Formats: sequence, C-alpha cells, structure tokens
Amino acid sequence: MLALNLAGPKLMGTSHRQAPIKNLVGSIRSGLSQLFGLPDGWEILLGNGGSTVFWDVATFGLIENRSQHLVFGEFSSKFAEAAAAAPHLGEPSVIKTAPGSHPQSVCEDGIDTYALTHNETSTGATSRIADIRAAIDRTAHPALLMVDTISSLGSVDYRHDEWKVDVSVSCSQKGFMLPPGLGFNAISEKARAASRSNKMPRSYFDWEEMLKPNANGFFPYTPATNLLYGLREAIAMLLEEGLDNVFARHQRLAAATRAAVNHWGLEVLCQEPAEFSPVLTAVLMPPGHDADQFRKVVLDNFNMSLGSGLSKVAGKVFRIGHLGECNELTLLGALTGVEMGLSVAGVPHRAGGVAVAMKLLEQRDQRNASSHLKVVGT
Ligand SMILES: Cc1ncc(COP(=O)(O)O)c(C=O)c1O
Repeated sequence: MLALNLAGPKLMGTSHRQAPIKNLVGSIRSGLSQLFGLPDGWEILLGNGGSTVFWDVATFGLIENRSQHLVFGEFSSKFAEAAAAAPHLGEPSVIKTAPGSHPQSVCEDGIDTYALTHNETSTGATSRIADIRAAIDRTAHPALLMVDTISSLGSVDYRHDEWKVDVSVSCSQKGFMLPPGLGFNAISEKARAASRSNKMPRSYFDWEEMLKPNANGFFPYTPATNLLYGLREAIAMLLEEGLDNVFARHQRLAAATRAAVNHWGLEVLCQEPAEFSPVLTAVLMPPGHDADQFRKVVLDNFNMSLGSGLSKVAGKVFRIGHLGECNELTLLGALTGVEMGLSVAGVPHRAGGVAVAMKLLEQRDQRNASSHLKVVGT
C-alpha cells in the first residue's frame, strides 16, 4: 500500500508503454530470478492472472497428450480437473493421497507432463520436488515438470533450476503480500519449445507474444500496473531481509504454531514432519466440533478471520497462516485469538498453548531483523 502511495501520480498517469513501466518490469524480472533460483538468461513471464489461468495455458498449449497430477488437496486437484475436461487430451493420470499427506510420482510411459503443488495451501503439506524430479529422471523420458509455487515462492526455499523444473507458476497474493491479479512463471527452454510446437491456437496467453515485449519491460496488452509497483516493493523487502532469513522466520513461526496446537491437544492435519508447511498450519477440530462454527466464534468475538477448510476437509479444519510479513508478535496475536476462541466456543483443549509458543520464540538464536518491516525507498 505504501509503495502505491509513493508511486502516486507516476502510477496514475503513466501509460504502460512508457519508460517508468519498462524500468519497473526490468527490476521485477531480475528480483524474481533470484526468488525462483534461476541462472542468467532464464525466461520469466509476467502477466495478468493467477494460477488457475496457468492451468488453461498448460492444458491448451503445453500438454501434448497426457499429464500426471499429484493431488493432495484443493489446489493440486484443479489442474487435474482442467486436463481431464479437455477433449483434445488423453485421460490424465491422477495420483491422490488424503489431505495432509503428499503422494509420490509413479512414472508412466506416454506421460508428457508431470504436475504438482509445492505447498498445498488447503492442507499445509509441502511436497519434495527434488524427489519427484529424480523419479522422472530415472525413467529417462523427456516429460515436462510443472510446479505450482503460489504459496511457496518467496516464503519457502525453492530452486527452479537445481530441481530441473520446467514451469514454476506463481502470483502476487501470498508470500508477496499483495492483492491477487499478477501472475509470473519461470519457464525452461524445453517448456518454451513445447509451447511453440503445440498446435492449439492461443491469443491472450500465447507465450511468444508475451515474451518478446516482457523481455524489454513491456506487455502486449494492458498489465495490472498498480500491482507491478507493489511487486517491486515486495521483492525489495524480501531481498533486503535476505531469503535465508525469510525462510528461517517462516520455519520458526510454523514450529511455534505447531507447538501451541500440540499443547492445546489438537492435531495438525499434516502428520509427516518432512512435509510440514512453513507458511500455514491446518488444525483438525476434535470430533463433534465444527471448524466453521469455531471460525465464526473467533471472528465475532475477536475480529480475526481464520482460514476455512476446503472441499474434503470443509468444516473439519481451520487454517492459521504465518506467511508474508508475519512476525513473532503478529503470530502470537493470532494464536491468542485461537486460544481464546477455543475457550469461548467450548472446544475441549488444554490452556497455555500461547505460552508454549512464546517460550519457543524466546529461545530463537536469530532475531527478527527489523529490516523487513520498514518500507524500502523507490
Ligand atoms: C497453492 C495454490 N494454487 C492455486 C491457487 C489458486 O490461485 P488463483 O485463484 O489465483 O488462480 C491458490 C490460491 O490462491 C493456491 O494457494
């Protein structure tokens, strides 16, 4: 918001075909390169739209015949549904596990695209991309690997190049602390070649049309200019804090959240420590208690909105987000709201979860640098 204020008249008066936007896009592309973990020369696509848009891009321009999808929650299921509904594609292979866990790839002949979500925002489980890539590589076939990094990029360690991902999909509304509307993808040469050779007609989402002007800092059509100002600011904040510090901060806050949940005697939905999400924690309600009713009590009494359970876990879990600019004090405020809510709603629990989280956060050896809280000048 402050970035938008600072942009002021520049923002309102500037055509997206003028120099200020060109310079803005140039610095955003180089910042995103660092966040994606890209060497020089990699392509980044910047445009309007979030991740669901990308599922259409892939369905109508990248998957050649059959895709495989690891489905372990609401968001990882969406791409599978888009591919399954496309009449020009073969039936996708869908490997599902229960919410809170994460499936392994089973490489099959004839699959040209493997897709999964790095951090499943609906369940709080994080997948191990390097293991999946290794499984694909063992079969030595040339399939593309596509990863949804919507709620992980800029919050969780991510290595597009090292893990040999072909398309990493991300957008403005999670770790970048911005409203929704801007999407960005890192794409490999292999993915670009697949897009070029795909015969499906495309217009708005034709990568080649996007890449040419993007490389010079422009867009083939009107971009969400206000979000570009915000994105540059968000990237500057993350880089100023230092990505390792950002990742460590999220891990620390996630550990404190789980400690509080365990003390309350509630269960975290994700049961595998290697897959605990650093950016959000989904908490199971005890039998006989509805999570949405509990969320309403917290909202009505303490004006705090907890995340709802989605699809299969609707009414069964609530979610505590600890991503973006969250720090020790904001997290403790949220945990206090949950603990008071449990009491008011009459949900059986052991009091004192917040105190346990406080103890854990007091012990940290690395303090929250104040740098990430201040606004970076334009
Ligand atoms: C992991 C993940 N993937 C996909 C989406 C959907 O993104 P969008 O609604 O911008 O298409 C979300 C929600 O923001 C998400 O958390």
